[in-house]
Amino acid sequence: MSRTMLIAGNWKMNGDAAQVDAFARDVAAGAANISADMLVCVPFVYIERLAAGLGGASVAVGAQNVAAEVEAGAFTGEVNGAMLADIGCRYAIVGHSERRALYGETDAVVAAKTDAAVAAGLTPIVCVGETLEQREADQTEAVLAAQIDALFAQCDARTLSAVVIAYEPIWAIGTGRSASPEQAQAVHAFLRGQIADKDATIAESVLLLYGGSVKPDNAAALFAGADVDGALIGGASLKADSFLDIARAAG
Ligand code: PGA
Repeated sequence: MSRTMLIAGNWKMNGDAAQVDAFARDVAAGAANISADMLVCVPFVYIERLAAGLGGASVAVGAQNVAAEVEAGAFTGEVNGAMLADIGCRYAIVGHSERRALYGETDAVVAAKTDAAVAAGLTPIVCVGETLEQREADQTEAVLAAQIDALFAQCDARTLSAVVIAYEPIWAIGTGRSASPEQAQAVHAFLRGQIADKDATIAESVLLLYGGSVKPDNAAALFAGADVDGALIGGASLKADSFLDIARAAG
């Protein structure tokens, strides 16, 4: 199996220019000798600043959202994939649970954004996950299967082979209550199996990230899961030290 671990930061709507500069300097200084791929997704307005600060360090920059529209046009407030690629982005997070819950992004919108990201040459990190209520009602697998089905129903194999999937149980995001390593591995194995039913080649190569209260002290145990290929990190990605510590835990 030749999947390279991916450690991705998601700053959400946090940070300012000074914080971006300090983070970039410290991550660039500490990035050598880390074998995992690293990525940081900051607010749109700071992406170029972060990339400049990182200089030649092998840390990718990405966006937290992308327009569903591919072509330029009258879409006030939107940023398309071509613009993101133009400023050096290689990734865009798509369908984060906050966007689904707060901005009404449906599975169909998430699939359209996934298509748009790949059309622009970006790697979309598509987020899926269940609420606490759904987990307690034993609906986790059904919810995730429906989210994966919707993606496969709308996107073609070329697009899907470029996708990263992040499993983010909503009850674990920003709560300090991570999924246990066993819970994460069980869901990741389920997801890979669901994908294998549709396309065995994609199932073998697709990166499945875990997200939800990943910290330096729980990262290594989470990464021990055979189907856990890295992490999508919110709060702990805001500081260079904790981001780098998590990346080191990925080997
Ligand atoms: P958290 O956020 O690490 O702060 O829980 C994860 C995410 O929302 O991607």
